[in-house]
Amino acid sequence: MSVKVTIDGIAIEVEPGTTILNAARQIGGDIVPPAMCYYSKLKDSGGKCRTCLVKVSKGSEKDPRPMPKLVASCRTTVMDGMEVQNITSPEVIEARKGIVEMLLINHPLDCPICDQAGECDLQNLGFEHGAVKTRYEFDRRTFEKIDIGDKIQLHMTRCILCYRCVFTADQITDHRIHGILNRGDHSEISTYIKAAVDNDFSGNVIDVCPVGALTDRTFRFKNRVWFTKPVDAHRDCDHEKCNGKVTLWYKGEEVLRVTARKDKNGEVEEFICNTCRFDKKKTSDWVIEGPRKISHQSVISSNHYDFIPLPVVKTNPVLIEANKEQFERDTRL
Ligand code: SF4
Ligand code: FES
Repeated sequence: MSVKVTIDGIAIEVEPGTTILNAARQIGGDIVPPAMCYYSKLKDSGGKCRTCLVKVSKGSEKDPRPMPKLVASCRTTVMDGMEVQNITSPEVIEARKGIVEMLLINHPLDCPICDQAGECDLQNLGFEHGAVKTRYEFDRRTFEKIDIGDKIQLHMTRCILCYRCVFTADQITDHRIHGILNRGDHSEISTYIKAAVDNDFSGNVIDVCPVGALTDRTFRFKNRVWFTKPVDAHRDCDHEKCNGKVTLWYKGEEVLRVTARKDKNGEVEEFICNTCRFDKKKTSDWVIEGPRKISHQSVISSNHYDFIPLPVVKTNPVLIEANKEQFERDTRL
């Protein structure tokens, strides 16, 4: 038995228990809400960042009352007959702008020197949903950089406390020894007595981090991502949990870094071990499969950003007004 949900005027039938976000991902395109903390491969993720807020304008067929507040689509399951608005709701667009502003309150504007620039979810989110200016006038939080072991560096100033790295370490490595310490605006990712995060799968926290807070020390400052060429490759890895399928990032003949492959939602397809990630940086270590198809959001695909508004947006003056910035950006590009 399936349930029917309509998102921004597009109906889809999904399995009972599916969240609004995953139903939207099944439809695809611009109506998919952005998700900075939810990660389908990590149990219990989501519910932290609020970027995925949507409006439920009809609760269900049985109880058609709208939900009184915007809801986190990654944590709300669909009901039969539910109607949801994402980009067709001016209220959602306004709320999301506020959330981006809030996420950026303490985030430094160090994109020009940050390794994540060009493939940063927060950069994309700010570009697509943020306001042009910040109103924040106070000092931002500052932290010293912390080396978490010899391969990973933490820039806590950039962290948006999405918990993905904590869940990754908890669920796919044997001994999690880092987590979120303190509460409120004192919260920070840390290890007690700065112990090294040291196990075979720890490097995956770099791939799940949506911002540049956890960076690969073997790649730091080596290059900008848009100057590199991503290529899919695999090797016969002898780690029982690693299938050795990766993306190699080349500059000329040199492999500058190795990452897990990411799917169309920007999530890791399969986690890889630290040997593949940090120790195999020669072409001869790999069987090359071919060029990697890169997400349209990456700067590597620059000049291919498309804003394809739904017909309902194009015909409704209120929605045209609400999506004005996106229309303008699209004309500029
Ligand atoms: S370090 Fe990155 S993955 Fe970990 S909580 Fe902060 S933003 Fe999220
Ligand atoms: S993705 Fe839903 S709250 Fe973060």
